[in-house]
Amino acid sequence: MKWTATKIKALKAKQKIAVLTAYDTLTGSLVDAADIPMVLVGDSLGMTVLGYETTLPVSMDEMLHHTAAVSRGVANALIVADMPFMSYQPSVEMGLENAGRFLKEAHADAVKIEGGALRTELVEALVENGIPVLGHIGLTPQSIKQMGGYAVQGKTSEQARELMDDAMAIEQAGAFALVLECVPAELAQMISSALTIPTIGIGAGAGCDGQVLVFTDLLGISDKPVPKFVKKYADLNPIISGALSAYKAEVEAGSFPTDEQTY
Ligand code: KIV
Repeated sequence: MKWTATKIKALKAKQKIAVLTAYDTLTGSLVDAADIPMVLVGDSLGMTVLGYETTLPVSMDEMLHHTAAVSRGVANALIVADMPFMSYQPSVEMGLENAGRFLKEAHADAVKIEGGALRTELVEALVENGIPVLGHIGLTPQSIKQMGGYAVQGKTSEQARELMDDAMAIEQAGAFALVLECVPAELAQMISSALTIPTIGIGAGAGCDGQVLVFTDLLGISDKPVPKFVKKYADLNPIISGALSAYKAEVEAGSFPTDEQTY
């Protein structure tokens, strides 16, 4: 069954929602084969795959290229493309045009944008024009220069009230779900109870309606340290490194290939 934004929204209070990032056809097909209903082509692509320090340099061309690749590996999951930094911030018109490109050129089913009340006009315009929107508040990595670091958001009562208002505004504007990143669990639980759309947490505790993780973090592929909220369901880095070293050693020793691998 092909997942739609409407079907994902309807899971609220019925079933917790697993979401995972993917960056190419291989990772997209693995996520889809695991029956995960929503795949996010995150701009975390910049750090996990493209070697950037932050998500800020990620371009529309890179996101379109990778979203199209993911779409070739996914049959059922809802494909959400992350709109990169400065592809929607300058104006609603620019956001609308770039979001449309994800659906027309890269076969995405929906887009994700960062920000709260400030983005309601854009969310409304996207939804009115047939583009489902996943919101994203709390720690928003595209604002890292303004925030000053990857810190937990909403710790003071004033910030918590602001985040609650942002969440309500994004729901009101028509988003089908909302990512809550690095928010205290108690606040995330309150926001989740107040909204009629599902919340998808990352570092926001078990009270959210779903969870999202980064593909390479979940599988332990990278040798970089991961945030506290990550659970490594596998530790593939040493396995991959071991296999590569064994290959090199066998080629150098002349013990690969053997008769078994020879025509
Ligand atoms: O870019 C990304 O992967 C994300 C998720 C971590 C929510 O925005």
